[in-house]
Amino acid sequence: MTETLESLFEPIRLRIAAAESDDDLRRIERETLDKGGAVAALLAGIPTLPPTERPLTGKRANELKGAIQAGLAEAKERLALRAVERERLGEGFDATLPGARPTRGGLHPLVAVTRELEDLFTSMGYVVLDGPEIESDENNFQLLNIPPDHPARDAQDTFRCDADGKFVLRTHTSPGQVRALKERVVPAIRAGTFAPPFRAIVPGKVFRQETTDASHEHTFHQMEGLVVGKDISVGHLIGAMKTLLRGVFGREIEVRLRPGYFPFVEPGFELDARCPFCKEGCSVCKRSTWIELLPCGLVHPNVLRNCGVDPEVWSGFAFGLGLSRLVMLRYGIDDVRLLLSGDLRFLEQF
Ligand code: PHE
Repeated sequence: MTETLESLFEPIRLRIAAAESDDDLRRIERETLDKGGAVAALLAGIPTLPPTERPLTGKRANELKGAIQAGLAEAKERLALRAVERERLGEGFDATLPGARPTRGGLHPLVAVTRELEDLFTSMGYVVLDGPEIESDENNFQLLNIPPDHPARDAQDTFRCDADGKFVLRTHTSPGQVRALKERVVPAIRAGTFAPPFRAIVPGKVFRQETTDASHEHTFHQMEGLVVGKDISVGHLIGAMKTLLRGVFGREIEVRLRPGYFPFVEPGFELDARCPFCKEGCSVCKRSTWIELLPCGLVHPNVLRNCGVDPEVWSGFAFGLGLSRLVMLRYGIDDVRLLLSGDLRFLEQF
């Protein structure tokens, strides 16, 4: 019986030694160790043996099983090493085949442009501030010189957050001016640490309840700008905007001011920039050679006073850059709704 067991292992050992692949090894394993395999058959035969032979045979059968398992494990290792060696020698390995390319995300164009502008403004001494998207009616309207029945509210169809109308989804980033004045400028003046000019930008998402089309979206992005100091003039405003344009387009760009009305600035303007894409008029500037860039103006004395800043001493300018519009201009996007659509066909182009 002892002999039978050992002579049973020899052919298995030979098969293992000849195995060329993991598949071969798996087949040998199945045929020898699994149910119905050679070892199992042997163990199954034990009850038919004379009682004195049973213990030794059982022990040997288990040894055979262990030998097969060890042989298979060793062979597996040998095959793996051989594969590595082959690869090292350049066999069966094609270095010119393209690798598996992981899909990569990228910055949303809105984020990319926001970051670029943040860099630019920070280099000009501005701080980047943030504010909540749910804003009080007070900060969004009242302190900005827009009292409850003011007609200017009609132009900003507002999503209200509560029945009393105390909170709204901010309709613009201008409450960023209010917060900057109340939270930064006033405490600094009071503490005697105010070092004018104070310069801040507030980029963010704004909301308006309006019918959407290619140029209107209920959610879009703006970037507020605020500068506060002594004797701030329209000249400073124009200078800052020209620096901004030089930063964005890398060269001098002519600007012009048209009167514009916003309750929180006086005087208020629409600032146009000479179309950076053409000389004689193109589709971007609608053949006019001018592009409406941003509304702006000198901070209204009422706004300064409302926020606790003495307008007899301090003055400032503010602007409201339409980030969504700027991104569209920059990348030639003709439908604002694409920006927040989450459509991969759109996003993958950036
Ligand atoms: N907040 C105004 C708007 O969204 C834009 C603006 C900002 C105008 C700052 C003047 C100064 O329409």
